[in-house]
Amino acid sequence: MRYLLIAGLMCAMAAPLAMARAIPDPNQKHAPGNEAPQKPISQAGYSTPVNYQLQCAGCHLGDGTGSRANDTPKMKGFVGNFLKVEGGREFLVRVPGMSQSALNNAQLADLINWMMRKDGIAGSSAPDDYKPYTEEEVAKIRSVTLLNLPDTRAGLIKQMREKGITIDDGMDDAY
Ligand code: HEC
Repeated sequence: MRYLLIAGLMCAMAAPLAMARAIPDPNQKHAPGNEAPQKPISQAGYSTPVNYQLQCAGCHLGDGTGSRANDTPKMKGFVGNFLKVEGGREFLVRVPGMSQSALNNAQLADLINWMMRKDGIAGSSAPDDYKPYTEEEVAKIRSVTLLNLPDTRAGLIKQMREKGITIDDGMDDAY
């Protein structure tokens, strides 16, 4: 029994050393044929749907369904409603997933415009008179930080309710 205890203790003490070996070796070389440093996504020139897959779909899922369990609202068939209430146009750019993404302003404008397509994530929730975002507009809105997301969102949802819009955001009145 005593030996078992001592052996256990030794294993526990050796563990940090073993873990230290997992730290990447700073002298490690690139794999042959893969020496070029990776291009940042803001310069990579991927298509808008690819940018969505890389930057957004991890949380919002491929079709924008989101996940109530992870506090990620449903954008599918709903997100366009934000453009029907005052302050919603700014909100869409200022949510952290957007404003703090690695995409540049032009890519972000393209991404929102793509999401707002009638055959896209917003679907029929997109306003009929949708005015596309421009790079300049995104830059301007993005430079202002959203300080109180829950209250801002709650205010927008309240405005939607007052307009008779059904709140189908998958959040069960969480906000
Ligand atoms: C790390 C997870 C995550 C990533 C990545 C992410 N989001 Fe989000 N997004 C959220 C969460 C969670 C919310 C709910 C508000 C909040 O807490 O930020 C949200 C809210 C939003 C909203 C507002 C919707 C609503 O109903 O309030 C939009 C629009 C949005 N995200 C778009 C995007 C886009 C576009 C991208 C990619 C450029 C993106 N998000 C990346 C998690 C994420």
